[in-house]
Amino acid sequence: MKNCVLLLLLLKLFISNVKSQIYSANWTDLNSRPNPGWYDEAKFGIFIHFGVYSVPAYTTHSYAEWYWYYLNNDNGTTQQWQNEHYGQQFRYQDFAPMFNCRFFDPDEWASIFQKSGAKYVVLTSKHHEGYTLWNSDQAWNWNSVQNGPGIDIVGELTNSVKKQGLHMGLYHSLYEWYNPLYLSDKASGSPPTQNDYVREVLSPQLRDIVLKYEPDIIWADGEWEQYSNYWNSTEFISWLYNESPVKDTVLVNDRWGKETRGVDGGFFTGGDHWQPGHLVSHKWENCETIGYSYGYDENEPATAYQNSTVLIQEFVETVACGGNFLLDVGPNAEGLIPNNMVDRLYDIGLFLSINGESIYGSSPWRIQNQTESIWFTTNSETGSIYAFCYYFSDDGIFEFNEIIGNENTVVELLGYKGNKPITVDVHKLKGIKLTVPFVSPSDYPPFIYVFKFINAN
Ligand SMILES: *[C@@H]1O[C@H](CO)[C@@H](O)[C@H](O)[C@H]1NC(C)=O
Ligand SMILES: *[C@@H]1O[C@H](CO)[C@@H](O)[C@H](O)[C@H]1NC(C)=O
Ligand SMILES: *[C@@H]1O[C@H](CO)[C@@H](O)[C@H](O)[C@H]1NC(C)=O
Ligand SMILES: *[C@@H]1O[C@H](CO)[C@@H](O)[C@H](O)[C@H]1NC(C)=O
Ligand SMILES: *[C@@H]1O[C@H](CO)[C@@H](O)[C@H](O)[C@H]1NC(C)=O
Repeated sequence: MKNCVLLLLLLKLFISNVKSQIYSANWTDLNSRPNPGWYDEAKFGIFIHFGVYSVPAYTTHSYAEWYWYYLNNDNGTTQQWQNEHYGQQFRYQDFAPMFNCRFFDPDEWASIFQKSGAKYVVLTSKHHEGYTLWNSDQAWNWNSVQNGPGIDIVGELTNSVKKQGLHMGLYHSLYEWYNPLYLSDKASGSPPTQNDYVREVLSPQLRDIVLKYEPDIIWADGEWEQYSNYWNSTEFISWLYNESPVKDTVLVNDRWGKETRGVDGGFFTGGDHWQPGHLVSHKWENCETIGYSYGYDENEPATAYQNSTVLIQEFVETVACGGNFLLDVGPNAEGLIPNNMVDRLYDIGLFLSINGESIYGSSPWRIQNQTESIWFTTNSETGSIYAFCYYFSDDGIFEFNEIIGNENTVVELLGYKGNKPITVDVHKLKGIKLTVPFVSPSDYPPFIYVFKFINAN
């Protein structure tokens, strides 16, 4: 009985200690918070760029979601294209009623994401155009409930994604190209503590999406014109980490001010499509696209879409180097994810259904790759090393010159259905040679062969 009381006291002390961990509104403090574990284990997420820009779905530059900006800032080609297709009087705002989402089916989207093997989703709650995908009080008549489809897209998708057991995240642009408050703050050069846009628009919006939808990621962007003290970023994140309903599960990226990228935040994003190709010691994420544009670009040719083999190789290399892979889809204005994107997602799902243990919950190995076509991960739970080979050698011989084996070393080929054994030759000091029976390539979508080394170093 006495022991019990003591135990309870200790437990209480422990809990109150955990509770008393407060992260102050400065980067040193916020950066000291460990990332919630689910994110590193997840490895694979789906990014969604969806908004009014999905209607014109047009760019001659790079990113279709930047349409409105290019309308005003290129050499006139975008304006000319708009005049030809929509008339001289047409304004960007006139696209909103055409954003009809008439085939939008959030359960269907969530089911596609679940089948792809992704463990989280990040949706653009607001892009730089300022149009919000939920009924924001700070975006009056410029949101998807009041102007356009009449749907709380953030809310409906969040429900469907969480029902599938995936984590839901929200992208949010800090700046807005044409918000009158932001433009007048900028013009007046008001000091960081006195800007109206942050106080009246950005801060309430960020808190609103957290309280209403309880996202597990806040993926900030559009930070580059101002320092993080202008955006009040550390104030928001300290509230997020200390008091918000998602304080134990949420993560943030590193785009919170012009000085923060690759320096502050829960995970680093580098630039868009960031693929460093070497081990990065801080947790990072590669936000990649299938074609080039994040928002749907109707004119992007089929040849611009990377095939599943290439995408899975980028995914493998990202994970081998310590990153997460956030692959983007750009649904069209009717709310459909283009079939060529869905096909890629299903291929990745098939790959993961066979090779999941080499990806989920894995860590970088002491060496990331042996050549450009052989990459490694390890998994502390299985204690195994995994080698991803992008080819099957003609004679069935595979040499792994960095792996150290012993008499207990066993090697498996994940997904192998044959009954002839793999011959394992362990070299004296270092290196393992495998002789693998001929296998049917159709068992190894998309031609990536994953060997599992048990009892090796
Ligand atoms: C951050 O906040 C903590 C707690 O208030 C304080 O001890 C620390 O000095 C601050 N660090 C910086 C760099 O301001
Ligand atoms: C304008 O820019 C587009 C896209 O960058 C380019 O293709 C086009 O040739 C340019 N037109 C003129 C008139 O400079
Ligand atoms: C920044 O956050 C603090 C604390 O929540 C608040 O007092 C202040 O008004 C905010 N500043 C702006 C410009 O929003
Ligand atoms: C995928 O694309 C790459 C690069 O363009 C190409 O080398 C490869 O043959 C393609 N693979 C398949 C299966 O089409
Ligand atoms: C590993 O891959 C990178 C990027 O593809 C390449 O530059 C490097 O040469 C490779 N390392 C080895 C040892 O082959």
